[in-house]
Amino acid sequence: MNGDEQNVDSGQPEQHRSALPARVCSAKHAATPVAKAKEFGPLGLKQLALWPPVVLAPMAGVTNLPFRRLCRTYGAGLYVCEMITARAYLQGHARTLLLSSSAPDEYPRSVQVYGSNPVEVGAMVGSLVDQGVDHIDLNLGCPVPKVTRNGGGAAIPHRPRLLANLIRSMVRAAGDVPVTVKLRTGIDDERLSYLAAGRVAQEEGCAAVGLHARTAAQLYSGTADWNAIGELKQAVKIPVLGNGDIWECWDALEMMRQTGCDGVIVGRGCLGRPWLFAELASVFDGREPAHPPKMGEVANVLRAHAQALVEFLGPAMGLLQVRKWVDWYTKGFAGSARLRGNLGALHSLDDLDRALQALDASEPFPVPALRSSRAKGSRTQKVALPAGWLERDDDQAPCSSDLQAAEDSLSIQAG
Ligand SMILES: Cc1cc2nc3c(=O)[nH]c(=O)nc-3n(C[C@H](O)[C@H](O)[C@H](O)COP(=O)(O)O)c2cc1C
Repeated sequence: MNGDEQNVDSGQPEQHRSALPARVCSAKHAATPVAKAKEFGPLGLKQLALWPPVVLAPMAGVTNLPFRRLCRTYGAGLYVCEMITARAYLQGHARTLLLSSSAPDEYPRSVQVYGSNPVEVGAMVGSLVDQGVDHIDLNLGCPVPKVTRNGGGAAIPHRPRLLANLIRSMVRAAGDVPVTVKLRTGIDDERLSYLAAGRVAQEEGCAAVGLHARTAAQLYSGTADWNAIGELKQAVKIPVLGNGDIWECWDALEMMRQTGCDGVIVGRGCLGRPWLFAELASVFDGREPAHPPKMGEVANVLRAHAQALVEFLGPAMGLLQVRKWVDWYTKGFAGSARLRGNLGALHSLDDLDRALQALDASEPFPVPALRSSRAKGSRTQKVALPAGWLERDDDQAPCSSDLQAAEDSLSIQAG
């Protein structure tokens, strides 16, 4: 346990303390109160009323059906499918179709669309709606250099007419199904676009706007700028979903209290910690959350998740993904370094069973691991844009073959 993070008591009045178990959280949240009755309301996305107002962030290679299902067993809210590239989807790319797939027990069903061509994203949305999808999100924050260099992803909000055209095409095809967008704050600190882009989203009929409060240049480094979420909330009337650095359930309450946003999007905090959604449900309902699981229970969750991945993706792809999940679930536990060192030798679920048996099932959850990032690192980048991108505003897709190739490769990476 380090100096910042500890088992602390729950900050409840003295007379109740003895009855309550110690709260397991970082020191900064020792006294963060649970939600009061009616402090927050359900997140309304057209006909959907989501309680708690919590959204699982779309994450490529992560939020496939097995992980969404697992998260849903703990909590409630909205669980978004990883980004699905419009062109690959329309061309019937087998793996893209698998990754966009769902099951009858999944409600509401939510898919994130990625594309820069209004005709393609409209056609994809029409097809998703025909299949019964309940919510559609548009990815406007992809910071991958080969995409932004050709005018896609996080470059799009800087072309307001193209942005409007994309959203209009999706909203029209979606009919009654709510469409949202997920933005970053801009290209870099000098080129911020989130307020203007939020207003375009509102004018074109989006049901809400999500903001990952970092620039594309920041990637995942530093801290998210929650003030930007508060400013966006002031600038638009549609619901605002705040995103960035929700590691503990308490951060979600803090973000909503600080910014006034209507819901939160949770990304890296739930990697290897799907029970975070149970903790979120508890604190939004005004209850102290249960303690995080011990190693033995973590191993059981990981084992079930691994089995589901192998069944969904097939043994080869499934086991490749399992390796990264072993790393994420066991982060901070004693013995996890040895386990990580042997991941290359993990060729079957039996290998996984043997590796997990070697761990100490009674070890409590390591508190420092509550706030440690399990993916993406702390790199920054200089964002490349096409020449003259910020000077012109055109409502048509940037139709270079380089962008097509870059976007196609996103759907391949997404697995
Ligand atoms: C592994 C990984 C994959 C991601 N893939 C996507 C994606 O497909 N679409 C998207 O909009 N954002 C994607 N993101 C960004 C997250 O949705 C989220 O905006 C970001 O992680 C910030 O939230 P956090 O601080 O809670 O992690 C991804 C993030 C990670 C860590």
